[in-house]
Amino acid sequence: MYRTIEWLDDTNEVKLVDQTKLPLATDYIVTKSHERIAQSIKVMEIRGAPAIGAAAGMGMALAAIESNAKSKSELISYLEKAAKTLNTRPTAVNLTWATNRMLNFAKEAEGTVDEIIQKLIEEGKEIAEEDVRMCRSLGEHALQFIKPGFTIQTICNAGSLATVHLGTVGAVVRVAHEKYNGDIKVYATETRPRQQGAKLTVYEFIEDGIDTTLITDGMIGTVFRDDRINCCVVGADRILRTGHVINKIGTYTMAITAKYHNIPFYSVAPMSTIDWETNVEDVAIEERDGDEIRIINGEYVTVPNAKVYNPAFDITPPELITAIITDKGAVEHPTETKMKRLLA
Ligand code: MRU
Repeated sequence: MYRTIEWLDDTNEVKLVDQTKLPLATDYIVTKSHERIAQSIKVMEIRGAPAIGAAAGMGMALAAIESNAKSKSELISYLEKAAKTLNTRPTAVNLTWATNRMLNFAKEAEGTVDEIIQKLIEEGKEIAEEDVRMCRSLGEHALQFIKPGFTIQTICNAGSLATVHLGTVGAVVRVAHEKYNGDIKVYATETRPRQQGAKLTVYEFIEDGIDTTLITDGMIGTVFRDDRINCCVVGADRILRTGHVINKIGTYTMAITAKYHNIPFYSVAPMSTIDWETNVEDVAIEERDGDEIRIINGEYVTVPNAKVYNPAFDITPPELITAIITDKGAVEHPTETKMKRLLA
């Protein structure tokens, strides 16, 4: 299991795994620059909602150091600019959740500028440690739905590489695998166009000795019909108070197919991924460059000027979801009223 991102205390630098090189190479990016962190989020050297949140939090701490601020108001205005710079992907709510948290923390913090900067570094590190704790907790809460011998279908990568450590779906699989002495299997879709399932999920789970099968995205109907799957467990980039789940493109298709074949469909995420404000019609779905589809490993797989539509995420409505599982517990057949109980 990777430690996807960490703060280096001796040099006040951030070190993160370059996920664009995996699984064939393990390279690290080490930086003092919040703009470099913003770039890493944009080009998906770091990706996955909770990992993006941790990177944004640490990016704000780097910005505080880079500010050379002489006063608190100077520091705050520099951090406000840094929050905009870091906001390079619109769908994963953890990004703005983390930059807002760091900004509010700075505004409420007392002491000299240097003291506030030190406190911000600790807060950035705390966001990362909280994520590890939340993932472990949601893995425990998921056990009520996962039985020995289960085969779990997942999409994209919501493993340790999508978080700071352990993962969300990664925690569900790893906690059950631990609890049931390895008697758990996983099916992972390739997850075109960026193949997070093939490149990251299969790699992570095989590294951990978890029986994992790779399928292409178009095979889920057959795999579900042939009773190969006991349940689906997917991550989330944003969960709304209504129970709508925004996750990797293909999740909605998987939910519909699961419903048709009476296969339970679970979405797992830390509380930092719940957006209590936004209405479903206002959710920003990131559209990425068409070459992500036209080109595979540097080779065109179609005519270079082919017209392409490339939404990176989709929205699954609550009626297709058996339960949303968080570090604060599970919400079965989610509704707005039931979701609010997570805040109790
Ligand atoms: O485009 P990505 O790779 O950042 O998309 C990631 C996902 O959709 C994950 O399922 C989601 O962020 C949950 S990660 C725990």
